Amino acid sequence: MDIRIIVGDVAKFRGDALVVNLFEGVKAPGGATGAVDTALGGAIRKLIRVGEVTGKWGEQTLVHALGKLPVDRVLVMGLGKPEDFTLERVRIVSAEAVKHLRKIGARRVGTIVHGAGTHLGAQTGTRGFNAAQSTQALCEGALLGLYRFTRYKKNSEDGKEIEALTIIERDREKLRAMAEAVRRGRIVAEATNVARDLVNEPGNALTPAELGRRARDLARRTGLRCRLLGPPELRRMGARALLGVARGSQEPPRLIILEYRGGRRGGPHLGLVGKGITFDSGGISIKPAENMEAMKGDMAGAAAVIAATSAIARLQLPIHVTAVVPATENLPSGTALKPGDILRAMSGKTIEVINTDAEGRLVLADALHYACRQKVSHLVDVATLTGACVVALGTLNSGAFASNQALLDKVVAAGRATGEKIWPMPMDVEYDELIKSDVAEIKNTGGRKGGAITAAKFLQRFVGETPWVHLDIAGTFETDKEKGYQVKGGTGVMVRTLVNLAVELLSE
Ligand code: BES
Ligand code: MN
Ligand code: ZN
Repeated sequence: MDIRIIVGDVAKFRGDALVVNLFEGVKAPGGATGAVDTALGGAIRKLIRVGEVTGKWGEQTLVHALGKLPVDRVLVMGLGKPEDFTLERVRIVSAEAVKHLRKIGARRVGTIVHGAGTHLGAQTGTRGFNAAQSTQALCEGALLGLYRFTRYKKNSEDGKEIEALTIIERDREKLRAMAEAVRRGRIVAEATNVARDLVNEPGNALTPAELGRRARDLARRTGLRCRLLGPPELRRMGARALLGVARGSQEPPRLIILEYRGGRRGGPHLGLVGKGITFDSGGISIKPAENMEAMKGDMAGAAAVIAATSAIARLQLPIHVTAVVPATENLPSGTALKPGDILRAMSGKTIEVINTDAEGRLVLADALHYACRQKVSHLVDVATLTGACVVALGTLNSGAFASNQALLDKVVAAGRATGEKIWPMPMDVEYDELIKSDVAEIKNTGGRKGGAITAAKFLQRFVGETPWVHLDIAGTFETDKEKGYQVKGGTGVMVRTLVNLAVELLSE
């Protein structure tokens, strides 16, 4: 979908449909909605008077222009109460509007920027966001909301595509900032959709080697350095925790390393590590059959860091980023890792394997250690790590576990700014007791109680003194509901947070 900006009068827009909006409680719309209403001979005001249009949050009213405008239809989106309005609501309302119009076959859609107009601010008493922020959110919402995974099943709405979304702005002075916002919104939304594609891809297609190829192709397109390490290199490096998990599978593992050198020397060096289990059966500690298919998405952390790194490169942010993805399947076989086995990780630490289904922390142990050896100044890992995190936080918040309060605060703020909720979890030293082993330096499970925390405590043993945050996305990596800009399947969660974090680290 093409996204353009034009300076002019909304009532003159030529296309199939026009999106305008209304805050709750407004009786006589002003600004762009008012101009459209006037052209329609007061149709919107009339609908307000009879109570059919209220401006309530979530309300969508399709008005036929019947020749009074150069478009066929006008979609009036309810924005809710001005005091409740947020950038996240801009994303949602934008997504809902384009989804509605795609369904009815509109191809050329014009829209005003929700909540950005100063006229609007003056009228409703909201401060209004700046035009650039709203424009970026609008683009993100539209591109994320229209996403579909159609590789294996054609959609009933196939052929119905919005070809162009035209943002109509009255004020020429805002044009430059808005054009830049469109570019940023497109880059982060497309990266999120890349991550969604990777998560939605089934395990037979997205093997560790294929994940490596996808990362390499993306790296080529976005100007990143990419290294793909296979079993011989991994053996030489002593990545025996990763190799241990890979032993059950016929598919060779990969350590995927992406590097973007955008920064000056002495600037921040952000390390990103993503869990890349392309299918998690549990291994010898095999999972029950019910919902096991969801474990094709056990590489959602990998998808997030690969996609975010490519977005950071496309944005040309002046920062140094190293992304490390340990990729393997976790399967049972005659050669598979067994409960009771002891592994020596790349760091030299010995690990007693109690449960082969706690494989994420094993592969992350080597990847985190490798990232620290690259002398990253900040380290964030993203992983579908524990069912316990889903029990604790449900599907609304990702869990955050940190060794460093300042970095944790930045990660949480970076998430909040883009509508990705992150909730900090405790990391008291007392939890370390639970992962003590009688026969090795550490064991890979700490029992059912506090399972998300003991998993994080395990990871902490491999990051040394590097400021580090672990994000457990087991509850947020996919969704079964179509809502706002969320589409069933992979969510691409944490791509936007990580991009925002990179921006945030630059203003230190
Ligand atoms: N990939 C799973 C965690 C998971 C569960 C992610 C549900 C997404 C949705 C992970 O490898 C796992 O199996 N964890 C075990 C750990 C346990 C054996 C200590 C779990 O959470 O049950
Ligand atoms: Mn597992
Ligand atoms: Zn797993």
